[in-house]
Amino acid sequence: MRKFFGALAIGLAAFALPASALAQDILVGHYGSLTGSEATFGQSTSNGIKLAISEINGAGGINGKMVKLVEYDTKGDAREAGAVVTRLVTADKVSIVLGEVASSLSLAGAPVCQSNQVPMISPSSTNPRVTLVGDYIFRVCFIDEFQGYVAAKFATESKKAKRIAILQDQASAYSVGLADFFQKYLQQFGGDVTTRQSYNAGDQDFTARLTAIRGTNPDMIYVPGYYTDVANIAIQARKLGINVPLLGGDGWDSAKLTEIGGKSIEGSFFSNHAAPDEPAMVDFSAKYRDEYGADPDALAALGYDAAMVAFDAIKRAKSHTGPAIRDALKETKLQGVTGMIAFDGDRNTTKDAVMVEVKDGKLVMAERIKPSN
Ligand code: PHE
Repeated sequence: MRKFFGALAIGLAAFALPASALAQDILVGHYGSLTGSEATFGQSTSNGIKLAISEINGAGGINGKMVKLVEYDTKGDAREAGAVVTRLVTADKVSIVLGEVASSLSLAGAPVCQSNQVPMISPSSTNPRVTLVGDYIFRVCFIDEFQGYVAAKFATESKKAKRIAILQDQASAYSVGLADFFQKYLQQFGGDVTTRQSYNAGDQDFTARLTAIRGTNPDMIYVPGYYTDVANIAIQARKLGINVPLLGGDGWDSAKLTEIGGKSIEGSFFSNHAAPDEPAMVDFSAKYRDEYGADPDALAALGYDAAMVAFDAIKRAKSHTGPAIRDALKETKLQGVTGMIAFDGDRNTTKDAVMVEVKDGKLVMAERIKPSN
């Protein structure tokens, strides 16, 4: 009897080994920052993707095949991003790649997908260059031209702030690109940039930059960075007696922003893809809280939407080859948690943005802004 179980166990183990390569599975890749100073970006996205996968598999999979996730940590590093996407595409042979969040990292992963003809959907990279890498690269979010416009419109029209300083992360494609668009639209709305200063991600001391900004006496400071740096900048700005609101973009979106920033980030504003208290997020939030015991951020919703778009395209594709899935993606029309998703000629999505205010430690919707055209 014992012998029999032993043999059975060995049999099962042998059977279990190549499971990742079972022909009846559809392999979906995800690369994201699961650790490091942008860890919540990758973790939230991963949670959203996993929720979508459990829903589709619970409903019988895609044309009878189960979806299986292959996921790697980029650690927030561009070189790591390129390496893990190469692994997803050439070793794991995934049908489609989801990721990254940070534009600089998507710009590292996208060329690998493009040259191997494997479609990639970034849930949340907003720099225009990301999808311009090629016709296999899509995104389910708006781009930074719109995001810069939204923040400039909100500041000048709703908050009557005209003189705004900029503090950008000089090595980040996202940060510099968004600062450029913000400056362009601020000027169109009759405002002025009082000074434009730079930092490097991970800097600990922002005193010199903030002192220069303080000297220009701005109405607001635009900081298109990621949450850890932004929270540290807010703390140091208050210490230097700078009390004007900070203004930013989607890179602020993390529970860590208020955890680290505390009182210093109160009364500041940022543009985002969804606000926790808006109707479209309510259903999703309930499901998400059930599964993870926390409220979703916009990244979780975008990760979920990107996965759903991938499943929908794979279901409609004439075959499961990269070119066929890419062709199906082009025909996408799907109502997501974060809005209607359809791709334009550059494989971008046009959606509303929300301006969010940090109020009593929570993120509340201040205004919804639609694309101007
Ligand atoms: N849009 C940012 C980028 O391109 C990433 C991001 C999206 C961060 C949404 C937070 C929320 O780098």
